[in-house]
Amino acid sequence: MPVSQDVISALIDLKRADDEGLVAQLTSQLRGLIASGRLGKGRPLPSSRQLARDLGVSRNTVTYAFEQLAAEGYLEASHGRRPVVAVDGHERIGRSGAVEPSMRSARPRLSPWASRLEQTDWPMSYQGQLKPLRPGHGDFREFPNEVWARCLRRNAVGAAKRGLGPVNRARLREALAHYLATSRGVRASADQIMILPSAQAALTLIAATIVAADDEVWIEDPGYPGAVAAFRASGARVTGIRLDEQGMQRMPGLAAPKLIFMTPSHQHPTGRLMSLARRTEFLGLSRPGKTWIVEDDYDGEFHYDSRPVPALQGLDAHGCVFYVGTFSKVMTSDIRVGYLVAPPALVSTLEIAQRHIGLIAASHVQEALAEFIADGHFLAHLRRTRRLYRARRDHLVEELERQLGAKLSVEVPPGGIQLVARFKRGRADQAAVKRLVAAGVETRALSSLALGRPRDHGLLLGFAAWRESEISAAVRTMASCF
Ligand SMILES: Cc1ncc(COP(=O)(O)O)c(C=O)c1O
Repeated sequence: MPVSQDVISALIDLKRADDEGLVAQLTSQLRGLIASGRLGKGRPLPSSRQLARDLGVSRNTVTYAFEQLAAEGYLEASHGRRPVVAVDGHERIGRSGAVEPSMRSARPRLSPWASRLEQTDWPMSYQGQLKPLRPGHGDFREFPNEVWARCLRRNAVGAAKRGLGPVNRARLREALAHYLATSRGVRASADQIMILPSAQAALTLIAATIVAADDEVWIEDPGYPGAVAAFRASGARVTGIRLDEQGMQRMPGLAAPKLIFMTPSHQHPTGRLMSLARRTEFLGLSRPGKTWIVEDDYDGEFHYDSRPVPALQGLDAHGCVFYVGTFSKVMTSDIRVGYLVAPPALVSTLEIAQRHIGLIAASHVQEALAEFIADGHFLAHLRRTRRLYRARRDHLVEELERQLGAKLSVEVPPGGIQLVARFKRGRADQAAVKRLVAAGVETRALSSLALGRPRDHGLLLGFAAWRESEISAAVRTMASCF
């Protein structure tokens, strides 16, 4: 509703601060009154002298606020005359904190990309304080925070001096090329490695670069919803590919797609390892420039029972595999660093896309990480957490079998940070998840990760982030809910 001139001062509420703070507050509140339409176009404001008196502030404070709003186009001001509102509220929405309900309910016309993203059904992902047994997390309490903070500090100070720019830093690229070659069997030169804020960013970049509307994309079913979202948003037709004991199964009769997304080291969510025969079979389908494979090795660092199976990327002789990794699981998800090993033919295109979408990790964080790796802290942390998480996996399996063995059958993954427990009877995993959340245990329903009609019903349970006593308590809570 429009307000009359004499109540303007009553609508302004200034918190006493220094003069500069008062100018900013007054400018922002007047801007809000104009943007919300409460001070309509053509309405004169009180004189600076009058408003200053009503508000109990200096006249300069009001004059500076008027000048700023005139410069932004909200007011028309000429010397010696009272300023007049120059725009209608709706012409200037979004420039202030005052947003009217009608502005919120307005339905903007979205791009096809954003509309598809909104329609993509992303199952509930938990936010806020971590609760047992939320999947997908390592134990942040075990992270060497002090050492990492020192690396960060040194490199943040250095960055200001050296004027580091937003690029993929050579030191981290080289450290990663070496680490990935020795521990994951990835074959790549340093300049094929792009440093991004997350694995999800890598998927978005890949989708933006090579997926066009109506391209066919295959994803494991059940699968990773982040991949489904990234590829569907690009307009791809996403087909869920069934799994068996060996991993993704080639479906007879389907022509090779544009892209195959897979998690061969620990299938998300089942944790299964893809057999060598299947890796070879899918690699045989790939064709330079025609059928690409995206290998998401999100938690491949964690393997417990035997030597890790090398990445599929290392077997690719034709440059058809994108290899994606992240530090979210092995360090902390707040570090915001993931990486993409690009097929040689796409390096420069992906670098241009990375720059223009703005998906480059902060330079001082990249430098700090390179130092953390070079000084041996990364591998030491990995060795320690690998032992710890293996014991936690075994403990969760034992507790589930002891307390819930009659209801759940557990699939023991050879690695990773989460496991699947299937219902022996019944399908109501989503209702069970709701009951568990209310009781303080966070899990994810297996059926919510299905791309088509759900065939598996059960729970995805994280074990890495929880001490054994916490795991025991959580499983007791689960047992009381079933
Ligand atoms: C299969 C898979 N890929 C990628 C990610 C995302 O990693 P980031 O946090 O780096 O985006 C996750 C996270 O849970 C995941 O489960």
